[in-house]
Amino acid sequence: MPLEGRVAIITGAGGGLGRQHALYLARKGAKVVVNDLSVEAADIVAAEIVSAGGKALAIAGSVTDEAAIAALVEEALGQWGRIDILVNNAGILRDKSFAKMSLDDFRLVVDVHLMGAAICTKAVWETMRQQEYGRIVMTTSSSGLYGNFGQANYGAAKMALVGLMQTLAIEGERYGIRVNCLAPTAATGMTEGLLDAESLARLDPALVSPALLALTGEDAPTRAIVCAGAGHFARANVTLTGGSYIGTGDDAGERVIAAWDQISDTAGSLVPAYGFTQLEREVESAKAAHASPLAANR
Ligand SMILES: NC(=O)c1ccc[n+]([C@@H]2O[C@H](COP(=O)([O-])OP(=O)(O)OC[C@H]3O[C@@H](n4cnc5c(N)ncnc54)[C@H](O)[C@@H]3O)[C@@H](O)[C@H]2O)c1
Repeated sequence: MPLEGRVAIITGAGGGLGRQHALYLARKGAKVVVNDLSVEAADIVAAEIVSAGGKALAIAGSVTDEAAIAALVEEALGQWGRIDILVNNAGILRDKSFAKMSLDDFRLVVDVHLMGAAICTKAVWETMRQQEYGRIVMTTSSSGLYGNFGQANYGAAKMALVGLMQTLAIEGERYGIRVNCLAPTAATGMTEGLLDAESLARLDPALVSPALLALTGEDAPTRAIVCAGAGHFARANVTLTGGSYIGTGDDAGERVIAAWDQISDTAGSLVPAYGFTQLEREVESAKAAHASPLAANR
């Protein structure tokens, strides 16, 4: 049992992917807090885990409600004494083209996905720091990574979770806290009506949850974005091209346009270890250009 003795909180686990995540982590030995808005939905999933011989606690509450999430964490700590894994999974959609989208719907979606994940993560962060052990998964989406028509609010919130993950992975490293993202595809309430029947038939949400063993286990990576659906697993990265030194001058803009192909060339791209990699390379390239004009276009 790879997750024996571990305590996991899964938000939005009353249905869809969250339910499968809860059942899966419990099968792998974790004690699971099943959270959802509705106590009935959370109770059913927790009962399913217990009847299969696992350990589960159903605790209702919105991820946007700081007091409810603080109480959830207290209850889990009171029951099991530690929190090792948090899967920020709860989510909603309010799809419309940006032209028709109200800012209220934009705020609501950002609130549930981004603020909900921030609230839940903040609620467990100190415990994980003191334990010097933690595994946190943010649920992002291909909509955030690459965009999808009608999902400006959702895509913005989902990409914001990648940004949250990037920094928390850096800040958590010295405390044994590893933070990753999961970009799932699955036939759930959320995708009903959005995908064709044949795709939906292949996209059992249970096929996504195995990614969590890699992301929440002892040897988990940190700062990984794993894309999972229909039994297929891949990784996405935020990359930086080799670029081109343009320098100064009134015609710098024109030379940026002229160098566009080289600036965009993905051969030699890298995945920066942290944000300052960009700054370091820019300063290095300027220094090299000044030291030797011949090096200017490297
Ligand atoms: N299904 C997909 O193909 C897909 C693709 C990319 C990302 N995702 C993401 O995966 C996650 C799970 O989605 P799903 O497809 O299982 O959707 P779903 O609608 O089936 O499940 C979402 C669950 O979250 C719960 N929830 C909603 N708001 C909540 C809140 N404020 N507090 C607590 N719980 C709340 C819902 O009650 C529901 O049980 C979401 O973050 C979603 O954005 C899903």
